[in-house]
Amino acid sequence: MATSSPIRFLTGITTSGTPHLGNYVGSVRPSVRFSRQADVQSFYFLADYHALIKVDEPARIQRSTLEIAATWLACGLDPERVTFYRQSDVPEIPELTWLLTCVTGKGLLNRAHAYKAQMDKNAARGEDPDADVSAGLFMYPVLMGADILMFNAHKVPVGRDQVQHIEMARDMGQRFNHLYGEHFTLPEAEIDDAVATLPGLDGRKMSKSYDNTIPLFAPRAQLQKLIAGIVTDSRAPGEPKDTEGSALFQVYQAFADAEETETLRRAFAEGIAWGEAKQVLFERIDREIAPMRASYEALVSDPARIEKILLAGAEKARAISRPFMAELRHAVGLRNLAAGGSRGVARPKAAKAAKPAFKQYREKDGLFYFKLLDESGAQLLQSLGFASPQDAGRAIGLLREQRGAALTLLAAQLEPIDNANMRAATDALEALAAENSADKSD
Ligand code: TRP
Repeated sequence: MATSSPIRFLTGITTSGTPHLGNYVGSVRPSVRFSRQADVQSFYFLADYHALIKVDEPARIQRSTLEIAATWLACGLDPERVTFYRQSDVPEIPELTWLLTCVTGKGLLNRAHAYKAQMDKNAARGEDPDADVSAGLFMYPVLMGADILMFNAHKVPVGRDQVQHIEMARDMGQRFNHLYGEHFTLPEAEIDDAVATLPGLDGRKMSKSYDNTIPLFAPRAQLQKLIAGIVTDSRAPGEPKDTEGSALFQVYQAFADAEETETLRRAFAEGIAWGEAKQVLFERIDREIAPMRASYEALVSDPARIEKILLAGAEKARAISRPFMAELRHAVGLRNLAAGGSRGVARPKAAKAAKPAFKQYREKDGLFYFKLLDESGAQLLQSLGFASPQDAGRAIGLLREQRGAALTLLAAQLEPIDNANMRAATDALEALAAENSADKSD
């Protein structure tokens, strides 16, 4: 890949709710700012297939899709500059999902947090472990992997709760590349620690699941009323207030500049009344939101305009996904029978199985391991535990590149081996390298 090509960022927003201030501060605002930088190429999409996993009310899916699209546009996302589309308008995504499904270990999906959380909940209640678990929930990470790998994203800005999904996408990409040649860029999660998580009305993280949100584009009067409901302590007017642990202060900070924040900090120390502080907060938020609210309302009342923007975005996305999917179909052997090229491709199955292979896995200790097996499945190398799959992947990369020499370099990360095994492992690594370069010249 040319080194001058811009870094590709991609992120999806599940269309299952109404955007709130927490979404704005934590995702929309930083993403829109970021998308304006030179030298980045960004992809933003409405993850409506993902929404179907949680929501079975068609009208809610449709409404949420409209509201989220209008929100991003009202907040300044420029569909000319970025690729802004709806997942379900890109049929190559579910198609890639299947190809990835076929290279994804069921064991990998068993470990996904969202799925495991439901299993644990069932266990705690003494219910069937699979109660309320759809195959969609189980497959969630594969669909997400397809979203990301389809556009060869380098970076995926997400919250911490999504990091595991990005690691899984990496695993899928790696596995596919290993089997079918280098097709996918391996993505990385991008977590911006400078971005605040906003507390909600009750002081816990603002989240739909806590029912403590403030809708981003609530009408002015409703916004004011909701802000009046933010928890405070019972200190009377005139008593100094703590900024530490104050939800009100934290929300203010997410909107105010340093000077404004300092002023409110002083007012807290001087005993500002809670009612007054809430009014200050309301005015500050409304100052930022009001102009966007007007354009949001205009957009939401013109769904045809949004539909057109999304369809144009889908065309941009498909200009990439269509040819890429054709390449991937070819890679796995879904091919035009009449076209040449079956020569050298119809490798006998036995030959395919009969080669050394790396196996990567995670142990109960939470660490990531790999081993190298010979063509008969006997173990040649066993690694010690790595903190992340990337670290294990890097060690494997080194072994692939440097072969025998890497055995020495990596001695501290491998279980000790004797000379005979050392030779067998080196032979296997050489065989793998030869196999790879033969594949590429095919
Ligand atoms: N799972 C993400 C969330 O709930 C949404 C999502 C779907 C996504 N596909 C994605 C995020 C691809 C980043 C990349 O927040």
